[in-house]
Amino acid sequence: MARDLTGVLDAVIAGIVVVDSDGRVEIVNSAASQILETSAETAIGRQLEELFPFAHSIPKLVRTVVAAGGSASENELHVERRFDHDLVIDVAASPLFDEAGPPSGAVIVLRDRTIQKSLEEMVEDRETISAFGDIAAGIAHEVKNPLGGIRGAAELLASRSEEGQTREIAEMIVREVGRIAALVDDLMVFTPGDAIHFEQVNIHRVIDEVLELVALDPISEAIEIQRWYDPSIPDLLADGDRLAQVFLNLCRNAVQAMTPDPGTLTVRTRMPLDHRLSGTHGDAMPTLVVEISDTGPGIPTDILNKMTTPFFTTRTDGTGLGLAVSRNWVSRHGGALRIESTVGKGTTVKVSLPLRRSE
Ligand SMILES: Nc1ncnc2c1ncn2[C@@H]1O[C@H](COP(=O)(O)OP(=O)(O)OP(=O)(O)O)[C@@H](O)[C@H]1O
Ligand SMILES: [Mg+2]
Repeated sequence: MARDLTGVLDAVIAGIVVVDSDGRVEIVNSAASQILETSAETAIGRQLEELFPFAHSIPKLVRTVVAAGGSASENELHVERRFDHDLVIDVAASPLFDEAGPPSGAVIVLRDRTIQKSLEEMVEDRETISAFGDIAAGIAHEVKNPLGGIRGAAELLASRSEEGQTREIAEMIVREVGRIAALVDDLMVFTPGDAIHFEQVNIHRVIDEVLELVALDPISEAIEIQRWYDPSIPDLLADGDRLAQVFLNLCRNAVQAMTPDPGTLTVRTRMPLDHRLSGTHGDAMPTLVVEISDTGPGIPTDILNKMTTPFFTTRTDGTGLGLAVSRNWVSRHGGALRIESTVGKGTTVKVSLPLRRSE
């Protein structure tokens, strides 16, 4: 029985694009149309470059394959898209031969790795956080008790001392111990038992309150704040105070990155068209994404990987806990925190959260 080729290709989960030797599109299956945000009708007859306006390396790969007559592939390519969220895809291209002679075209296979990547990242995040949480809890516990002792002794010394200088020194000990105690309290945030309280939360109200605080800070005086809210986002079940803390940390980082060169802080909310991030198949939970962007200097790749590590900081007055704490809370919500940055252009931190609703 002769089958309809189009039907067969549309049943394949991977995206398939066939081009002629000039790079003109001949066939696009339905998975590829989804990945490329286009219909087969629009795509056919166009040049590959038009189909991949945000991923130039794919047309390049295909041209090499057609010219050299051998297969080639590239993994984990980051593809920016016009409407939907960005993708991570694996691309493989193979030449097509009709008869002896040079290739008459190529077949391109696109595999969407976005879900797998984000799940991997989430698992990694959780493992790191939980390992750090155990250490933090251990240290916090061991340090707290002796600190209490030091503080008590220094207070006693200060109160009994007749001599001014000794009293001053004793008081300094009390103050410095107070600082260590505050840091230890910060660390306690990572302990798994730290309570999270879910309540009905309007995400835009939370962000508005945060932005009000940010605007009050003198260092954001010259900074323009923009809000791009998706009004269709419903209330969700979340810990509003913790989320406020997360967004405040992220906005502060953005503002600090734009000091002393003021720029624009943009907070954008959206619900990606396909809700695939979390949940099992069948009852996938929709996802909400909050993006905090700045027009600061951006972050070099070597720093990007270390940024969420606790205590990593490039600021003289930073503790380096802001991102680590934020990631911890986002992860406790079942979400993910991702940082994208282009040196010279700015940084976007994307917080995705499952849109958990009350029954
Ligand atoms: N939007 C950003 N643009 C550029 N660099 C950033 C941005 N956000 C964070 N960073 C870098 O990541 C580092 C870690 O950030 P994090 O918020 O964890 O700690 P911190 O801001 O240094 O200190 P704090 O504990 O006070 O938040 C910063 O020191 C900075 O180098
Ligand atoms: Mg910070």
